[in-house]
Amino acid sequence: MVNSNLENLTEELERDGCVFFRNFFPPTIIEKAILEVNEYYDLYKPKANTAGGPAFMEWKNPAGEKTLDVMLDLYGKCPALDTIFEKVLTDPTSSGILQILAGNIKLRGYNIQRFTGAYDPPPAIGPAPMNHEWHRDARGEINIAIMLTDCEKPENGATALIKGTHKFPYCPRKNCLFGPPYNFGKGLSFFLKNNFFNRLLAKKTLKNATGAYGKKGDVYIFLNDTWHGRQPNLHGNKGMRLMIGCFPNDIPYPDIVKPVSGEILNTLPPTFQKVLRPQPLNTGNRTLMDKIILSQTPPKLLSLFYWARLERKFADLISLEVKLFYSFYTKNMQRVKSKSVRLLSKAAQKKG
Ligand SMILES: [Fe+2]
Repeated sequence: MVNSNLENLTEELERDGCVFFRNFFPPTIIEKAILEVNEYYDLYKPKANTAGGPAFMEWKNPAGEKTLDVMLDLYGKCPALDTIFEKVLTDPTSSGILQILAGNIKLRGYNIQRFTGAYDPPPAIGPAPMNHEWHRDARGEINIAIMLTDCEKPENGATALIKGTHKFPYCPRKNCLFGPPYNFGKGLSFFLKNNFFNRLLAKKTLKNATGAYGKKGDVYIFLNDTWHGRQPNLHGNKGMRLMIGCFPNDIPYPDIVKPVSGEILNTLPPTFQKVLRPQPLNTGNRTLMDKIILSQTPPKLLSLFYWARLERKFADLISLEVKLFYSFYTKNMQRVKSKSVRLLSKAAQKKG
């Protein structure tokens, strides 16, 4: 008999690029994990990123205050957290979805995001500015998120998502002019204010923008091809969530992923261990991910996507030319200045 819940959730994931599992964990289990994570934070944050120390990452607001701590690769550091993830990997519905979506998976990251509660507004320019700008990650990547605290309303740092955008032809970070940091800060902000097709595209696509809202113990899975970002945090939310990045194991990682040591692996629950060890490779185009990737096509000439991308390419070209000219001009001005100073001092010496 077909599990109709699994069927419905798979349909939702295929349609929206994300799917939610409500009340997946009882609050008591989550609270145990929170205690462990907080203990880990207090103990290891002072040693963060020192030689051989734990890896942390920080985000800051425009005033330079820390808004978010990311504790990276917590494998084996918080047993209650590991048990929670094991449950996602073994529960018939969530593991069923992962199997349909990606076959055998491999992990890229196992991170906690912990908000400080500092005011974190969105950038002020562009037709669709967003904290951690709208983007896609590497093709084929999947994110499994476990909410350790409530995040039920907008403007509390939820994962920002635009449903259905996994079917779009490209990544907005690389192809649009939606907001800063334009081209990792290399583009001219003039083009974020002055663009026609990108404004239209933003208006059209943002109609379906939402956030991964939910309660402590909810789980959501999204395809990283779904345009996503992070919502502003304007009301002091100090929430936490566990974010696990993974791939179908036949798709290569986009970067180097350090293997988890055997010593740590042995402390993990069995299915968690399994997804960190080599497994038989998925073969053929049989997963939902294969189907989605195959369905993505380049933008057609008459589509808004095509013209928005062309507008971005034009902006990139002009930005590059202006920056090259500026750097050439400043370098030469510096040279002329030094030469003039040398000549003037020589003339002064002669006079003297
Ligand atoms: Fe991302």
